[in-house]
Formats: sequence, C-alpha cells, structure tokens
Amino acid sequence: MRMRVIILGAPGAGKGTQAALLSKELGLAHIASGDLFRQAQDRGDELGAIAKSYMEKGLLVPDEVVIKMILERIAAPDCIQGFILDGFPRTLEQAQALDQALSANGIDQVLYIEVSDEELIRRLSGRWLCRSCQAPYHMINNPPRVPGRCDLCGGELYQRPDDAEETVRKRIEVYMAQTMPLIDYYGKMGKLTAVKGEQDIDAVSNDMLAALGRGEGPGEWG
Ligand code: AP5
Ligand code: MG
Ligand code: ZN
Repeated sequence: MRMRVIILGAPGAGKGTQAALLSKELGLAHIASGDLFRQAQDRGDELGAIAKSYMEKGLLVPDEVVIKMILERIAAPDCIQGFILDGFPRTLEQAQALDQALSANGIDQVLYIEVSDEELIRRLSGRWLCRSCQAPYHMINNPPRVPGRCDLCGGELYQRPDDAEETVRKRIEVYMAQTMPLIDYYGKMGKLTAVKGEQDIDAVSNDMLAALGRGEGPGEWG
C-alpha cells in the first residue's frame, strides 16, 4: 500500500532519528531537506552555496529553492511506494505547493513530534552526526558503540555548525513563527497526529507506527 508521511517537529525533536527508523520498518524513501542541503554543500555546488548562507544563520532557505528540490526528489522512482518527509514542508507556501503537486489526498499522515524547548536545546548541544550517512547520535542519550564512529556505516561523526546555542535559539524562533502554522493547516484536514517526543526513542517509534496503523501502539510491550 502506498504511504506518504510528513514528520513535523522543532529542531532537535527527533525527526531524523524517527524518519530513519520508520523508513526502514515500512520500506519507504526517507527524504530530509536539511540532509539534501548538507550533501549539496559537501559536493560544493551552487545549491549548497545558496543553502549555506541561510543555514548558518538559522534561517529558512527561500521557498522556491526548497520546493523545486523536493518536488524533483519525490518524482524519483524510489518514491512510487511512498515516502517520509523530514524537514519539509516548513512554511504554508511549501505545504500548498506539495498539495498541488500531489493529488487531492496526496499526504496520508502528518506525525507531529512534541518536545519542550529546554529538551530541544539539551538534545542539539549533545548531538553528533555521521558525515557519510547523516545518522544522528547523542553523547548521553544515544551514544555510538565505538566513540566517534557511526554504528551503521563506520563513518566519522561530527557536530553541525548550526547546533551552536545561539543558532539553535534562532532556529527554534523561526520554527515557531513559520512552521507552527502547519499544525493548524494539517489539523483542519484531519491528517495530524501528535506524538509525545519526550519518551525513549523506541517508545516514540511505537507511537508513530500505531498512528500509521502499524505496530503495537502506546502503552503496550514490544
Ligand atoms: P534540518 O536539517 O531539517 O534541521 P532541523 O529541523 O533544525 O532539525 P534537526 O535535524 O536539527 O533535528 P531533528 O528533529 O532531525 O532531530 P534528530 O533526530 O537529529 O534543517 C537545517 C536547516 O536547513 C534549516 O535551519 C534551514 O536553514 C534549512 N532547511 C531545511 N529544510 C528546509 C525547508 N523545508 N525550508 C527552508 N529551509 C530548510 O535528534 C536530535 C538529537 O536528539 C540527536 O542527538 C538524537 O540522537 C537525540 N534524540 C532523538 N530522539 C530522542 C529521544 N526520543 N530521546 C532522547 N534523545 C533523542
Ligand atoms: Mg534532522
Ligand atoms: Zn553512517
């Protein structure tokens, strides 16, 4: 069955962590706008240079740039069975462009991970990411098995420059102003499910799978 899912949440809420687990569990493509921009920066191309100038300030990359990149990406063959969007849409304009590009019932579910601001800052200040596959780790909550190395691919771990505390505060402010309206947008469509983000990683995954009609659901074992 085709499944198109959006994961919404503030910076550090666990979008990337959960999208990776769900995409594996459900066999869906994981599409992360931030990861695509970071890959473009590593390649040193023009898209990367444009994105960098906004990302390092904690600001959103302009809608037209993001929309074009994501609509091209979801047209790829690995998205025919569906996809999990992580970090897109982030403005009403992006959400409307996505709805227009897909058919009327294009998106099946929007999963909103709720986490308090203090916890977001704690998580991002301890985060390390794999340079090769972008898998996120946390020094305390979710450490890699071998220090400094990715469990999945052995890649080198690094800290994102935009995880500096001042930039994190800006990212949260931008999220409140520009992305929070999407809660209402998808809520009114009856597509939104809120999930408690301040549980351990597996418990959050179980709640998300339950919202998608898969898995054990909240409050049960396994
Ligand atoms: P992006 O890369 O999307 O960053 P973000 O939204 O700020 O979110 P993060 O990736 O920081 O957090 P996450 O929710 O993925 O959390 P994670 O799973 O890593 O965007 C970066 C920039 O790109 C933007 O600022 C913007 O400039 C640009 N951009 C991207 N998309 C755009 C768009 N659509 N429009 C315009 N501009 C765009 O987890 C965080 C940490 O917590 C990790 O260390 C993890 O191990 C830990 N953790 C996760 N879950 C748990 C848990 N349950 N308990 C304890 N610890 C946990
Ligand atoms: Mg992420
Ligand atoms: Zn890796």
